Amino acid sequence: MIALEYHAATKHHFHRFARSLGYLDWATQPDPFRRYAGAPLRELPRAALASDVPYAALFDGTAAPHPIGLASIGELLRCSMGLSAWKQYGTSRWALRVNPSSGNLHPTEAYVVWDGRVCHYAPREHALEERCVLDEAAAFETGFLVGLTSIPWREAWKYGERAFRYCLHDTGHAIGALRLAAAMLGWRLALLPQWSDAQVTALLGVDRGDDDADAEREEPECLAVVTAGELGPWLDLDPTPLVAAAGRAAWQGRANRLSPERVEWPIIDEAANATRWPGSATSRHVGATSHPVGATSPHVGATSRHVGATSHQVGASSHRVGARELILQRRSALAFDPRGVLRGDVFHAMLRRLQPNAPPWDAIDWPPHVHLAMFVHRVEGLAPGVYAYLRDRAVVDEWKAAMRPDFLWEQVGANEGLFLLVPIDCRRAANRVSCDQDIAEDGFFSLGMLARFAPVLRDRGEWWYRRVFWECGLIGQVLYLEAEAAGGRATGIGCFYDDPMHDILGLSGHDWQSLYHFSMGVPVEDTRLMTEPGYSWEATKIAKTG
Ligand SMILES: Cc1cc2nc3c(=O)[nH]c(=O)nc-3n(C[C@H](O)[C@H](O)[C@H](O)COP(=O)(O)O)c2cc1C
Repeated sequence: MIALEYHAATKHHFHRFARSLGYLDWATQPDPFRRYAGAPLRELPRAALASDVPYAALFDGTAAPHPIGLASIGELLRCSMGLSAWKQYGTSRWALRVNPSSGNLHPTEAYVVWDGRVCHYAPREHALEERCVLDEAAAFETGFLVGLTSIPWREAWKYGERAFRYCLHDTGHAIGALRLAAAMLGWRLALLPQWSDAQVTALLGVDRGDDDADAEREEPECLAVVTAGELGPWLDLDPTPLVAAAGRAAWQGRANRLSPERVEWPIIDEAANATRWPGSATSRHVGATSHPVGATSPHVGATSRHVGATSHQVGASSHRVGARELILQRRSALAFDPRGVLRGDVFHAMLRRLQPNAPPWDAIDWPPHVHLAMFVHRVEGLAPGVYAYLRDRAVVDEWKAAMRPDFLWEQVGANEGLFLLVPIDCRRAANRVSCDQDIAEDGFFSLGMLARFAPVLRDRGEWWYRRVFWECGLIGQVLYLEAEAAGGRATGIGCFYDDPMHDILGLSGHDWQSLYHFSMGVPVEDTRLMTEPGYSWEATKIAKTG
């Protein structure tokens, strides 16, 4: 199976990293912005639409629905795929985005199909590039489509063969960012599984032969519907007429070339080909018709930072931070203060957000396949140690049988899915296994996301490989926002030693694989960096309002 071979070949080992150039070739650094020269540019309205929506509303479906139009679609994109800041150090200047990305390389491109048009989102300009007009738009009265693609070269430039994994994580983060921004606008968002990757490619116009001959390839990832109404008709929508309309359309614009030269990594193309979704005419979004109602209690502003030896509590006042503000302030921490402690109730509430009964989990149509192995360092009320958090309690016997026989499996308090495996100071182990990164040691906790792996790939098909990574990205996206809501900060960790992580847990074979690591704590800011807002017009607004 090519997906399994790709996965095995791109593991990091203590004695050998996955294959890459081994250095950064600055002369070929990819342009982070894809543009379609010659395509008409439609600027998106700039006004904030949902500033008063509380953070909890992202998960409980209570935000009032906005009418679908250019302004609200602009707000959706601004709060999911837009720019969050510009950073500068010396003469280097780079943009950060609302969605995180491994190495800030941003392989994910977003497309919108609405109003009879297929458009590419240009985040730097906050504008839509109109690629074509479709003569088949009948279904578009109650919603619109969002498509995602990956440009593997962007990640491969730095990470070589492991890059395809990062494209998939980033897609998962982007799905999560879009789903939660849609919730802020009172909308639902769900992937459309009946569309094959070939149909997504045709609709988004990312394989247009001679038009884009020079441009780096874009890999189809997924297509989703966004609607304030019923999902059912969208899930039943037959792709054929739209694909045919895209085939008839006159396409505008030429994709830009991102690097003057590139290094080929054939294993990435093989893995991408092998894991494409062939589509299913009969596939329905299981459970997606039930309205998302959050079972979790809001804990915005329940900030829980005890910083310093005196357990001085910082920011514990229950101020209510809006969803929009939190979404736009999300950042990755570069380092954590090793004295930060997370309040226990906030920790448990965070884990509950990973239960599949609320957004963003209604964006996908499968139950949890990814669970957490946690290295808990500093969470109030919890002994430091290795823990398991099962998003589906039914997995417990399987994990018990697969892991070290001397693990305790002590359920923690009333949290059904949380188990203490070993009470131990695991800071060094956490650091070592996450490619010797201090962020895995210095925060409240770090973790590995363990996915049910080879048996499901064999059962369902290689296309499933992408989906378990997307699920990991979704978990990461929720935890990034939860960290901000708690007054802390998080960082995704794509660099980890795969099999040493499995060894810590006593796992052998390929039934379970750790696909993504993650960390959270009290951030230490890098004061050498200059920060500017993501968009100049937002700077003016800030200046005017003081
Ligand atoms: C899939 C993924 C893997 C990442 N891996 C690491 C990592 O191993 N180490 C690290 O310090 N940061 C890691 N990051 C954080 C990125 O470097 C960060 O998202 C990026 O620089 C953009 O910054 P921002 O998140 O503040 O917008 C990762 C992020 C993602 C989404």
